[in-house]
Amino acid sequence: MRKKFVAGNWKMHGNLAHNQKLLEAVLKNTTNLRQSEIAVCVPFPYLSAIQAQLKNTHIKWGAQTVSEYDKGAYTGEVSTEMLNDFGCKYVIVGHSERRAIYGENSQTVALKYIAAQKAGLIPILCIGETLEQREGRITEQVVGEQLNAVIEKAGAGSLMKSVIAYEPVWAIGTGKTATPQQAQDVHEFIRKSIAAHNTTIASKITMLYGGSVKADNASELFAMQDIDGGLIGGASLVAEDFAAICEAAQN
Ligand code: PGA
Repeated sequence: MRKKFVAGNWKMHGNLAHNQKLLEAVLKNTTNLRQSEIAVCVPFPYLSAIQAQLKNTHIKWGAQTVSEYDKGAYTGEVSTEMLNDFGCKYVIVGHSERRAIYGENSQTVALKYIAAQKAGLIPILCIGETLEQREGRITEQVVGEQLNAVIEKAGAGSLMKSVIAYEPVWAIGTGKTATPQQAQDVHEFIRKSIAAHNTTIASKITMLYGGSVKADNASELFAMQDIDGGLIGGASLVAEDFAAICEAAQN
């Protein structure tokens, strides 16, 4: 059985005081939830404080993006080595906001994914379709292409050390969650696509659903066969909500 995993994606929210309070409450409210993995992906400037607060606890941490380059003249960028300096375990790559607002394409995302793994970080690879693409009935094509871009560059074997997050763009931050069946259908498609390369990895890989997961819809989503947890945006900023979602992920 795959272990459930809940990761918070704080996006560009928070400040030192708020983060500390939030994590104090999350730590307290999730202290008995040891059957699932819990992590928070935070803005870069807070990594040091978060490392200090979370080290030796049951909660892991990571970043929301990373440079595909090792080092050099890349003003404003942050490298995998820097993330390692602050004890990150995870890094989100290819979030739809990075793709849509910052022009990251599947090739760049694949390079970031490779850089993360090379440094021993676990990439949380985000893939998902827009509303227009869903209505145009090309969800599988879009998600398949996003996945294949990584498989082509990094090899299917690399998926063993990654997490996939299926995040339909139309469900992110909109309050419009995919139904458990809609999410399950795409998760099943992704798992089958991976199985075409390697059945062991397909059965072992952790696949998260993301897009308006809340305390009151998490259980039914996580109960679906191919959904192993969630990538949580808005609800990860409220301690009680995030803890309740973590609770829904107990196997
Ligand atoms: P949301 O964000 O939970 O606020 O919809 C999810 C995400 O963007 O990862």
